[in-house]
Amino acid sequence: MQATVLLCLLEVALVQAGDYSWTGPGENVKKSGGDPTTKNACLTDPMSCGCCLMQQQVHRMKMFFNRSLGEMEKELNNTRNILNHVRASRSAFSVSLTSDKKFTCIGPFRDDKIIQYKHVFINLGEGYSTDTGFFTVPRSGVYSLALTVYSDAGAPGNTLAACAGLLVNGQLVAGPREKNMQDQEDSATIVVALHLMAGDKVAVNLPIGCFLCDNSSHYNTFTGFLLYSTD
Ligand SMILES: *[C@@H]1O[C@H](CO)[C@@H](O)[C@H](O)[C@H]1NC(C)=O
Ligand SMILES: *[C@@H]1O[C@H](CO)[C@@H](O)[C@H](O)[C@H]1NC(C)=O
Ligand SMILES: *[C@@H]1O[C@H](CO)[C@@H](O)[C@H](O)[C@H]1NC(C)=O
Repeated sequence: MQATVLLCLLEVALVQAGDYSWTGPGENVKKSGGDPTTKNACLTDPMSCGCCLMQQQVHRMKMFFNRSLGEMEKELNNTRNILNHVRASRSAFSVSLTSDKKFTCIGPFRDDKIIQYKHVFINLGEGYSTDTGFFTVPRSGVYSLALTVYSDAGAPGNTLAACAGLLVNGQLVAGPREKNMQDQEDSATIVVALHLMAGDKVAVNLPIGCFLCDNSSHYNTFTGFLLYSTD
């Protein structure tokens, strides 16, 4: 009780000194004037006037902090939602022809053929299917795609045909190609960044006459990952 009275007295002193003015950004309060009831109270009873003013200020502060807290919680929720979206969008695959130690070649075939890469380095989001050879785009966005082919003609002078085609929905995007009779072995690489749509099918085609050779050294790789989503 004593403490309250003292505090109120202190308030009165402050008010009289014109020093009592906490106006948080939460409320539009004029520094001078205040509300009429407080003014009246101040005229009749300076002591209760100080307490009343203080209560008002405390209430104002409470409202201000309550609102700030509410806004911060909303922001936090938004940020959390964005982060969850980013986490759910993660997509990366990297595969190679075989895990087999034995050096073997696929092709040449009489028809174009979709290559089924069997060795999986990573398949985050399970977008790549080792059964079909297709990467199904899980989310619209900008993707980085890289394809490296390698072939071995078996002996010098034989025809070498290290070639393939990167396809999106059956359309050729780019095709590394190394065809000659001068080398026994050769390798070629392409890297592209593409804006792909959810559901797009990305694959590597082995055109007629081309053949690729590999073992567990992984000379033939096919890699793709989402740079950022656009949905
Ligand atoms: C604080 O704000 C919330 C809305 O954000 C409201 O529901 C609640 O009643 C407020 N609390 C006080 C003490 O004003
Ligand atoms: C947080 O975000 C989720 C998803 O948008 C929404 O359902 C939920 O109502 C939000 N919560 C608050 C407190 O804003
Ligand atoms: C794969 O084959 C190449 C060429 O025959 C050979 O040099 C390499 O050592 C082989 N890699 C493995 C892991 O056996």
